[in-house]
Amino acid sequence: MKILVTGKNGQLARSLAARAQGSDIEIVLAGRPEFDLENPLTFGPVLKSVAPHMVINAAAHTGVDQQEDEPQRAFRINAEAPAELARLTRLAAIPIIQVSTDYVFDGKSTEPYVETDKPNPQTVYGLSKLAGEQAVRSENPDHLVVRTAWVVSRYGRNFVKTILSLARTRKRLQVVADQFGNPTEAHDLADGLLAAAHFWREKQGFPQGLYHLAGQGRASWYEVAARVLEISKAVGGPIADVESIDSSLWVAKAQRPANSELNSERFAHDFGYRAGDWQERVFSVVGNIIKDSAIGQDSR
Ligand SMILES: NC(=O)c1ccc[n+]([C@@H]2O[C@H](COP(=O)([O-])OP(=O)(O)OC[C@H]3O[C@@H](n4cnc5c(N)ncnc54)[C@H](OP(=O)(O)O)[C@@H]3O)[C@@H](O)[C@H]2O)c1
Repeated sequence: MKILVTGKNGQLARSLAARAQGSDIEIVLAGRPEFDLENPLTFGPVLKSVAPHMVINAAAHTGVDQQEDEPQRAFRINAEAPAELARLTRLAAIPIIQVSTDYVFDGKSTEPYVETDKPNPQTVYGLSKLAGEQAVRSENPDHLVVRTAWVVSRYGRNFVKTILSLARTRKRLQVVADQFGNPTEAHDLADGLLAAAHFWREKQGFPQGLYHLAGQGRASWYEVAARVLEISKAVGGPIADVESIDSSLWVAKAQRPANSELNSERFAHDFGYRAGDWQERVFSVVGNIIKDSAIGQDSR
């Protein structure tokens, strides 16, 4: 089975390629400039030359604050492009998996969000990703929308890397302690999507269209940062103290949800897969990032 994955340099795309290696799933990565979500004319030729059995749209504009200043671009990349991609996959009679976000919720719930909860995005990112979900749903009935959260890995840009790189130049970091979510390791997310692809191949369809898939365990950004620095200290990486602060003291353009915890039970039930515990996963991510930087490997 051949799967075309967009966003070739992103955390999820690279994790999908790594996880599928040696399996009977072939991952073909596509990215800029040959495949540009801002230029839908690039989609057709790539789909034609790769001729995949499925598309996973892992590419997105993920700059949450940046998008507050460029909403039109955010909607082009996160909503209009998935719409066109879904339309083309329908014409090719293949399924599409669209990856979405916990930021479609407003964060006011005190419970982990389930798929039937009503989205109410508060940021351009959340609004554009929700529009992307809706577009994929209406353009290709053979779809899966998988919402995930707080993705971390040895690749690309993410919170763990930011904390480690700040700790190289600062003695003390301040991190928000009143926003909660589920840190998710990108390889775990990839494993979940591959389980869904296997399911589709066996049954020629997905059981339902919308799922949550995030790491196990709840954390605040402060708790993640404290864990990262604790591990870093233990393995000889950069050291810094971390102070918990209230989000009202943190100046950011986009207002993050106070609680964006996702309930991933529906995914576990239908696809038999659960992502790992965030504390364990952050342990290996920190170790790998420090190892990569010691040998000068590009883990961007
Ligand atoms: N990261 C998170 O914490 C998080 C949380 C919830 C949901 N998600 C969702 O999970 C999915 C995967 O996220 P991720 O962490 O793997 O993201 P990521 O590491 O930021 O990667 C996103 C990829 O999208 C590509 N991209 C951006 N604009 C593009 C364009 N115009 N044309 C083609 N490619 C473009 C980027 O390409 P370049 O490398 O060339 O810039 C990058 O490779 C996304 O749908 C995201 O919305 C992520």
